Amino acid sequence: MSFAEKTVCVSGGTSGINLGIARHFARAGAKVFVFSRDPAKVDAAVVELRGLGAEAQGCSADVRSADAVSDAIGQCADAFGPIDILVSGAAGNFVARAADISSNGFRAVLEIDVLGTHHVMHAAWPHLRKPGASVINLSAGQASVAMIGQAHVCAAKAGVDMLTRTLALEWGPHGVRVNSIVPGPIGDTEGVKRLMPDAASLDAKIQSIPLRRMGSTQDVADLCDFLCSDRAGYITGTVIPVDGGAILNPMPTRMEAFIDG
Ligand code: COA
Repeated sequence: MSFAEKTVCVSGGTSGINLGIARHFARAGAKVFVFSRDPAKVDAAVVELRGLGAEAQGCSADVRSADAVSDAIGQCADAFGPIDILVSGAAGNFVARAADISSNGFRAVLEIDVLGTHHVMHAAWPHLRKPGASVINLSAGQASVAMIGQAHVCAAKAGVDMLTRTLALEWGPHGVRVNSIVPGPIGDTEGVKRLMPDAASLDAKIQSIPLRRMGSTQDVADLCDFLCSDRAGYITGTVIPVDGGAILNPMPTRMEAFIDG
């Protein structure tokens, strides 16, 4: 579907699933703004998105800083006008048992995932096209399935989904839809490398997925495309997996082996 003339803003949009989403909208004719912590990744992503024919810009910003996010989203609106599609994708993760996570470690993930999502929503609100904007928050299976080594992420992503639902309530009357996407295991992403660090754990994961394959960033982008299109005009406040059915068959055992060595 064409998103010509639409403005898309993606936090964490310089790598992995989020860059895949940014690429998709770039190919579909949108003006795309990406931001993340690493300036080198921002530069590379902007060059790549322009290479796809899009008007693209970006900047470096840590979603843990309200001021930095506000500045980034202000730059997006100044360059490209009201935001039609807002994707909050920046996330943090590491694998550790709760008893081994310091206060600072737990806080780091909550600040990136939950507070970061709030910062993105809060800063974007004055710049969202009303009515018409569509907001996508990147969630994870950990929001609904307990997983060994992921207490901080389970807590954080459950928080993200409740932000989605609450903002759908608050922003619906303004014509702004808000949904969460729950990517399953997506090949070649930082998350999969951290959670399935060796060939055995990767293969076991694939065998546990009903559709018996890893997902692709395009699988996630296709769901974004639908949710941000007029065809999804009556969908808000939902949490939608795109995971080959993986969430039906959680497979935590290799994680224990990984943590315990
Ligand atoms: N086990 C236990 N604690 C860990 C840890 C691990 N594997 N990795 C980091 N931590 C703790 C650190 O020890 C530190 O706590 P301390 O100060 O009490 O020692 C705290 O987390 C912050 O670590 P630090 O590396 O200083 O934070 P950071 O802000 O540079 O990085 C993280 C944030 C920890 C989330 C890091 O993993 C990150 O940058 N992730 C971004 C990329 C990512 O996770 N992508 C995957 C998305 S699914």
